[in-house]
Amino acid sequence: MKSSTRKRRGPTQAELADRHVCYEGAVQDVVTEIDFIEETWGSLRERPLELLREDFCGTANTSCEWVRRGDHHRAIGVDLDPEVLGWGRVHHVETLEPEQRARIRLVQADVRDGTTEAPDAVLAMNFSYWLFMDRDGMRAYFKSVCDNLIADGIFFLDAYGGYEAPMELEEKRECDGYTYVWEQVSFNPIDSRMKCAIHFEFPDGSRIQDAFLYEWRLWTLPELREILLEAGFRKATVYWEGTDEETGEGDGIYTPSEIGDADPGWVCYLIAEK
Ligand SMILES: C[S@@+](CC[C@H](N)C(=O)[O-])C[C@H]1O[C@@H](n2cnc3c(N)ncnc32)[C@H](O)[C@@H]1O
Repeated sequence: MKSSTRKRRGPTQAELADRHVCYEGAVQDVVTEIDFIEETWGSLRERPLELLREDFCGTANTSCEWVRRGDHHRAIGVDLDPEVLGWGRVHHVETLEPEQRARIRLVQADVRDGTTEAPDAVLAMNFSYWLFMDRDGMRAYFKSVCDNLIADGIFFLDAYGGYEAPMELEEKRECDGYTYVWEQVSFNPIDSRMKCAIHFEFPDGSRIQDAFLYEWRLWTLPELREILLEAGFRKATVYWEGTDEETGEGDGIYTPSEIGDADPGWVCYLIAEK
């Protein structure tokens, strides 16, 4: 029998890949993130940080890093999506030591619901809170965090901007075995709403299109600081990244600042103190 010219090929690299593994490898650096949280807490408070609530926790990678770091560290990860929480349980929580696992709890809930125990710190990272589209919605979320935090609690957020932030563009970055693609699909200057997507490309030419999709409002730092204060926080400070003298690039050191640089693209932290 004549052999078929159409050979049945195995699965593509995109079919074999796990989008959560690709996301974590491309987007997250939980060690550096927790370093910043520990250092900042240490510079602002004289007692140790113990209970951390990670909002929009996704796979709870950051919460797991927190409980690994110290015997008294406890974490509550909150996310609406049971699929992503289930993935985090299998791939992160179950790899912890039993004693560490006893100090972490993943909750499927809306971040605005709060938790019964008041956390020392709440984290909202990777801009997830930008899904709140108007000031009232954002203030309601910030107020729920402020009300839920312990008396001297701290809310850690990140933000990005720069003159490339409202552009429709695509950026690629090489990762270990794949290419991370960040696409700013659309931006409406009238309401500042944007659609963004993450895709992953593989050496065999295959691609995970729309691995993650986001609909956000592009918020500015003055708006966010004003709303944090309106929601009841005493202080809202921007921690801006310093510049490496030799390369002219960011040096990874974030300090309290009132003046930033008019960069094409920047990422900073916002620290809101109760
Ligand atoms: C960008 S992802 C998580 C990013 C993660 N925090 C990180 O640092 O990489 C956003 C997550 O927010 C969750 N989410 C969206 N709305 C939510 C809400 N109102 N309450 C809780 N989780 C929510 C989604 O299910 C999704 O897993």
